[in-house]
Amino acid sequence: ADAITVGELAKRMGVKANDLIRELMSMGNMVTINHPLDFETAEILAAEFNYEVENVGFDEEAILNVEADGSQTEDKLEDLVERPPVVTIMGHVDHGKTSLLDAIRETNVIAGEAGGITQHIGAYDVELDGRKIAFLDTPGHEAFTAMRARGAKVTDIVVLVVAADDGVMPQTKEAINHAKAAGVPIVVAVNKIDKPGANPDKVKQELTEFELVPEEWGGDTIFVEVSAKEKINIDGLLEMILLQAEVLELKANPNKRASGAVVEARLDRGRGPVATVLVQAGTLRVGDPIVSGIHWGRVRTMINDRGEQLKEAAPSTPVEITGLSGVPDAGDTFHAVKDEKSAKEVAQHRAQKLREAELAKTSKISLEQLYARI
Ligand code: GTP
Ligand code: MG
Repeated sequence: ADAITVGELAKRMGVKANDLIRELMSMGNMVTINHPLDFETAEILAAEFNYEVENVGFDEEAILNVEADGSQTEDKLEDLVERPPVVTIMGHVDHGKTSLLDAIRETNVIAGEAGGITQHIGAYDVELDGRKIAFLDTPGHEAFTAMRARGAKVTDIVVLVVAADDGVMPQTKEAINHAKAAGVPIVVAVNKIDKPGANPDKVKQELTEFELVPEEWGGDTIFVEVSAKEKINIDGLLEMILLQAEVLELKANPNKRASGAVVEARLDRGRGPVATVLVQAGTLRVGDPIVSGIHWGRVRTMINDRGEQLKEAAPSTPVEITGLSGVPDAGDTFHAVKDEKSAKEVAQHRAQKLREAELAKTSKISLEQLYARI
C-alpha cells in the first residue's frame, strides 16, 4: 500500500501542514511536507486532531478481484460460456409456488412445511433434456418482503404465480414491483386451472394493469396456464422459461474463482454454519478458501438440493456449503479467494469497519442523550 505524505494527510484532515509537522516534531519526528507516513504514525497523528484514519491501503477489491463498487470485473468475451437461467418463483401466499416447484421437481417439499407456509428461500437445480435451470422458491406471506426482494435481485427470470381462482392479490403486486425494480423479465404462471372457480382470463385482464399483456392480446408477456396439483402443462412452463432464457443469452466465466450470493444460512448443531449459496460466476470447489460478510473459511462440504455430494459447482448452481466461521447474512455476497489468509484478512477488515461504524453510532447517541439532559 502507498504511504500517505504529511502534506496529503493535512489536506484530507483540513488542517495546516505546519501544524502536523509541529506535532510530529513533538513526537520526535523531524520531517518535511513530502515525507511519507506509515499507517501507525498517521493514525496516532490523526488521533491528536480527533480524526480517525482508515487503512484504505487494504485493497479488498484486489483480493476479491472485483471492481471498486463490488461488481464483477469484466470477463474477456472468449472466456464467457452459456450458463443456466436462475429463475425465482414469486407470488401471493398460497397461490401454489412451492407446489409448482414440487411438480417441476417431482418431489413434495410442501408436505414438510409448517402449516404449508414457506418461510425461507429454497434453491433447486432442475434438468430438462440436458438443459439446466436453477430455481429459487420464495415465501408469499406478507412478512417476507426482504426475502422476495433478495430473490428478485439474484434472478434472471421471475415466474409470477397467480392462482386462477383468486387473481391478483397484494403480494402479486409486490412481486411485480420487485421484478421491475430489478429489471427482470416476468413469465406468468396462471395456476390452479383445475379448480372449478378458475378464471384465467380474469387474471390476464387484471395483469394488463401492470403492463403484463399476453402475446395473444398483442403484448409481449409469456403466460402459461398450469395446474401444479394435477401436473397440467408443467412441461409447457419449462419450455417457456427456457425460451425466455435463450433470449437473454446468459453467460458466465466458469474458469475463475467463484463468487455469488448467499441465499439463506443457518447454524446447524452438528455441522456448524450451513449456507445455501448461488454460484453466479466462476467455479466453486470443495477446499476453496472463501469469505462472506465477516465470515471466512474453507468449503468443507458441498451438496446439492438432492443431498448429493459435489466436488465443484459451476455458474448458476445452488449449493449448500459448510466450513464458514459463522452464519453469513442472506443476501450477502461470497467470494472464493487465493488463500485462507486473504479470506481471514478481508473478513477481519470488514468486522473492524463494522465495529467502528457501531462505535460511531453509540457515541452519537450518547452525545444526543447528553444534550437532552442539559
Ligand atoms: P407460500 O409459500 O406460503 O406463499 O405458499 P405457496 O404459494 O408456496 O403455495 P403452496 O404450494 O403451499 O400451495 C397452497 C395450497 O394450494 C396447497 O393446499 C396446495 O395443495 C394448493 N394448490 C397448489 N397448486 C394447486 C393447483 O394447481 N390446484 C389446486 N386445486 N390446488 C393447488
Ligand atoms: Mg411456498
